[in-house]
Parts: sequence; C-alpha cells; structure tokens
Amino acid sequence: MISILDEDFSQLNVFLEQLKPSKIFILVDENTHQYCLPKLLGNLESEIPFEIIEIEAGEELKTVETAAQLWQILAEFEADRKCLIINLGGGVITDLGGFVASTYKRGVKFINIPTTLLGMCDASIGGKTGVDLSFLKNMVGTFSLPEKIFLYPKFLETLPFVELRSGFAEMLKHGLIADSKHWEDLISINDLTFENITPYIERSMQIKQEVVEKDFREENIRKTLNFGHTIGHAVESLFLESGKAIPHGEAVAMGMICETKLSELEGLIDEKISSQIISTINHYFPTLIIENFSENEIMNLMKNDKKNSLQNIHFSLITNIGSCVFYHSASDKNIKFCLEYYKNQQN
Ligand SMILES: NC(=O)c1ccc[n+]([C@@H]2O[C@H](COP(=O)([O-])OP(=O)(O)OC[C@H]3O[C@@H](n4cnc5c(N)ncnc54)[C@H](O)[C@@H]3O)[C@@H](O)[C@H]2O)c1
Ligand SMILES: [Zn+2]
Repeated sequence: MISILDEDFSQLNVFLEQLKPSKIFILVDENTHQYCLPKLLGNLESEIPFEIIEIEAGEELKTVETAAQLWQILAEFEADRKCLIINLGGGVITDLGGFVASTYKRGVKFINIPTTLLGMCDASIGGKTGVDLSFLKNMVGTFSLPEKIFLYPKFLETLPFVELRSGFAEMLKHGLIADSKHWEDLISINDLTFENITPYIERSMQIKQEVVEKDFREENIRKTLNFGHTIGHAVESLFLESGKAIPHGEAVAMGMICETKLSELEGLIDEKISSQIISTINHYFPTLIIENFSENEIMNLMKNDKKNSLQNIHFSLITNIGSCVFYHSASDKNIKFCLEYYKNQQN
C-alpha cells in the first residue's frame, strides 16, 4: 500500500504502467503546484494524457462547493471510470481529492502523494475522505482507500515550519496511543526540522496503517486515533468559523493537552505521567487563545460530532504513554474542568 519513492519516481512509473488509466488528473493547490509538481512531472515517463487541476490552498476550500466544481471539471474533460486522480498535496488535497474520486461516476481510482508531514503520517492513510460542511469538520465523506500511497519525504524541504510542527502533533499522538519508544524518539528531537523528523515518518505511518487495517470502519480500535481530536476538532471548527483557520495539528496539540488532563481526572493515568506529557506538548506548541469561545459552544460542538451518539461525549483517552482506551464517556464536569485548565495555562 505504501511505497517509498526513489529520486526518479520509478515506483510511480511502474505503477502507472501496470494500471494503464485512460487519463490522469493531478490535483494540486497553488503551493504544491509550485513546489512539488515540477519534481513529479520531471520524472513522469508515462505516455498517458494528463491534466493538472489547481485549487487555492487552505482548509476554507475543503467544501462541498469545491467538490462540485471538481466533479464539473472532470465531466468537462470527459473523465471516464478508468481515469486516475493523483492527489499531490497535504491533507486538504488528499481528503478532497479522495472524496471527489470516490464519488465521481460512483468512484474512480486515486493515489495519494502526500506533501505535508501531516499528510504523510496521517491524512493520506486509512481511506477517510471528505469535506467540511458549514465549518463543521469532515461532515460529508466516504471510506475509500487510495490504490497506493507514495512517500517522498524530501517534499518537506519547502514546507513552512508551522506546517511541519502541525504534522508533528499527529506523530506525537501515534506515540502516545500506541508506542512509547516512538514517543521517546520524537521528544528527543530539539529542533523540529525536516531532517530531524524524517527518520521517524515511516514508523508513524506504520502505526496508523496497522490500526486502520484492524478496524477500517472505525467500529472499535480505530477510535484510538481520535485521541486529542474530540476537543481539538471542536476548537478547530470554531477557529475556522471565526475566519482564522489554524493548522490542524495545533488544534490536536491543544486537544491532546485537554484530553491528557481528562485521562487523569477520569482516573486513567498517573498525575506524574500526565504532567510530563502536557509539559512536553507545551514545549513544542503555542498555547491557543480560546478565550473568545464559550465552554458551551465547545461542548455543543462535541455533542454534535458525528462520532458521538445520544448526547454522550465519548473520548479516546490514554492510560499510559503508548496505551489507550476508547469509547470512554467522560463527565461534563471533568470536560469543562480541562478546558478551564487549558485556559489558565495562558495566564
Ligand atoms: N483523512 C484523514 O484521515 C485525515 C487525518 C488527519 C487530517 N486530515 C485532514 O487534513 C487536513 C490538514 O492537512 P494539512 O495539514 O496537510 O493541510 P494542507 O493540505 O492545507 O497543507 C498545509 C499548507 O501547506 C502547503 N503545502 C503542502 N505541501 C507543501 C510543500 N511540500 N511545500 C510547501 N508548502 C506545502 C499547502 O498548500 C497548505 O498551504 C485537514 O483538513 C484535516 O481534517 C485528514
Ligand atoms: Zn488529526
């Protein structure tokens, strides 16, 4: 499923040779057009005709409206069911492009070539595709696997630091829920540079891949990947709605701090370990200013989250570094306490 690309992208050329799609559509945003597409096109040896489709960068464009425009463009190019969509970009491109591919003509094949750290370690893997609906994250989507994921870590050379750090949050999450050694390796990194992080990308991908293989439709263990995301997604949606979208990983880092504290309050993890985790995350990530959002707003968003049912908010929480429980229903009182705890860090 995951293939690591050599400098000449030979693995991609072999794949295309075998698949023989009728046409290729390469979906990029303005940044991946500039920084990543030349490398891809420079190595593409295929005779198969291709088109480049560019959208503006940013989460704001991960919408049903953009998906509709892309369906329209595919139809105008007379894309048939044997075409291939190559998603070349971060999580926005792979989520959106995967969604469009999995719905256009009831589904055409697609591959992901992630170009952000978050895309490599998380979004490109696992077959969740989708778009946001009225600022609610990933409300519409499908479970559809890409034919393949191609990894080329050097794409990260041009990724801004803030985006690199965003992906690092998901890597830390993988360590916390599944592998204490991975966590230790990651926190030994002082400077978050692409060179320092690259050696650990494959382990992070593997953790995600293993969890997804056990539970593709998120009925049980896949829920552990939502650690930090129940509170994180609610806050991310509020920032998005206020016109100040923040990188996904910053919301996840905030969510992991709150949900680590919650794990402690719910009696699942030692106070000492919880404090150590929280101070580590704080060492890498800025504290988000969430004063403008009321606790009720955040609570309501969590209650409406598609992962919750019957108004109970369920969490994936950690019991130690490297182990996790899921479907844990926490008390409203403890959830509110965690939000207060986070806000007080700002003072
Ligand atoms: N499907 C999943 O399982 C899953 C998992 C995690 C996150 N996600 C989704 O992923 C999205 C976030 O992904 P993201 O953080 O990659 O965001 P993104 O796709 O918006 O990329 C971040 C920024 O980096 C730019 N960029 C991308 N590659 C670059 C490169 N090589 N050099 C320079 N700039 C580059 C982009 O243009 C963009 O401005 C969110 O929508 C989130 O919901 C999905
Ligand atoms: Zn995430």
